[in-house]
Amino acid sequence: MKNLKAIIFDAYGTLFDVNSAAEKCKGKIGDKWENFANYWRTTQLEYTWLRSLMNKHKDFWKITEDSLDKSMKKFQIDQNMRSELLDLYKILSPYPETKNTLEKLKNKNYKIAILSNGTPSLLNELIEINNMKIFFDDIFSIEEVGIFKPSSKVYEIPIKKYKIDKREVAFLSSNTWDVCGGGNFGYNSIWVNRNKNIFDKLDYKPKHVIGDLEELLSIF
Ligand code: LAC
Repeated sequence: MKNLKAIIFDAYGTLFDVNSAAEKCKGKIGDKWENFANYWRTTQLEYTWLRSLMNKHKDFWKITEDSLDKSMKKFQIDQNMRSELLDLYKILSPYPETKNTLEKLKNKNYKIAILSNGTPSLLNELIEINNMKIFFDDIFSIEEVGIFKPSSKVYEIPIKKYKIDKREVAFLSSNTWDVCGGGNFGYNSIWVNRNKNIFDKLDYKPKHVIGDLEELLSIF
């Protein structure tokens, strides 16, 4: 990776722990909390892909609500928990090494940004509540183009803003399909493989595979 100008991060699942909302309720939900959290996340992503293909855009927050409704029915979770789970989703926790890593990257003269399916208000709230505003030059939301990842329209957003080449971007995601989406677009994609998962067969091999964000510091 030569001539890098920007390091761009996916948000959900990469910087912020998407399971942390359900985990904070595990006392009430019981042992099924993790299966429920995974189902909610999978359904949420499926809705983003399906709505993009159907040309029926709805924003990420409404999709998060819709996918929660289906998941609560499937796992027979008490309706009273709906607003608690949604409120917790607005204040997801970053992974433990996230802030320390961003702080160190900040001194290295790259543009540092987020590129996410989240709405601008959702992302800004998440960044503010976790005191992370200082780390980023920009927070890019797909709402600018009205279609979800992995549409190439999304990955074009930072290229246009920074007037740089695709190959001058390092893109970080823990979502394998997002790594491939960015990589097939032309970014140098790095896979954050926190859970020793298996990579996708989608015509792209990540430039690096790291176990957590801190490992980035040995690359840049
Ligand atoms: C995002 C989803 C893909 O933040 O995690 O864009």
